Amino acid sequence: MRFQLTLLAFAALGSAVNAQDATTGATAWREIYAVASHPRCTNCHVGSSGRPAWDDLGYGLKRLHGMNITADDSRIGALSVPCRTCHIGAAGKNDVPHAAPQVDDAWRLPPVELAWRGKTSVEVCELLRAPETNDGFDIAQLVEHVRTSVFVSYGFTPGAGRNPAPGSAEELARNLEVWGAAGMPCEDD
Ligand code: HEC
Ligand code: HEC
Repeated sequence: MRFQLTLLAFAALGSAVNAQDATTGATAWREIYAVASHPRCTNCHVGSSGRPAWDDLGYGLKRLHGMNITADDSRIGALSVPCRTCHIGAAGKNDVPHAAPQVDDAWRLPPVELAWRGKTSVEVCELLRAPETNDGFDIAQLVEHVRTSVFVSYGFTPGAGRNPAPGSAEELARNLEVWGAAGMPCEDD
């Protein structure tokens, strides 16, 4: 009898832990999506149009990059006006409002499969958990990327009165770890 009760207690504990994993995984995802859907990230994370955006920079919430800038397949504007003409590839203070942001890397758009602008939570979630729509990255590489990328860092500290993405790169990295450990749940699972 005592043995059976112990087993029952273990079973109950097990399902409680699973339920908790699911909640923390879902909560972590909501925080990840709040960042991944933020204009400081989605203005670069655009698709095959190659048109970066100027959403939430003082010209309204939906606005493409001024001056008809197009990144084309090169993702750096090689066929027209290269990004580096204005976004100099060296660390800058980014403290002049409406000046071109600069970071210590060649300013460029991510690969087309990392297009998140205008996508729902479920769409971005499914892209991020599948290596084939994810630049081949697994969760450990995603975590590493957000901890080290100067682009991600820019999104949290854009300067010059621009709205930063919510939280910090470190919080995003920890949320990705929690979401990964919970099996990368999406809201429609
Ligand atoms: C200046 C444009 C730019 C901005 C702004 C930007 N990114 Fe990116 N992002 C890139 C590029 C380019 C890559 C491709 C990897 C590389 O070349 O470093 C990338 C890749 C990624 C990846 C890796 C995905 C993968 O599987 O390869 C993640 C995650 C990511 N970005 C998150 C973010 C988040 C979160 C923000 C906002 C806080 C953000 N990015 C802002 C350009 C940008
Ligand atoms: C002629 C100069 C010029 C060129 C060339 C240029 N940009 Fe920009 N870009 C700017 C300026 C200026 C801003 C700042 C707008 C503001 O804050 O009001 C900006 C802002 C941005 C932003 C918004 C950043 C944010 O925090 O939301 C993105 C994304 C961007 N540029 C991507 C690109 C890409 C990709 C290229 C190359 C394909 C490029 N730009 C080429 C001048 C330029």
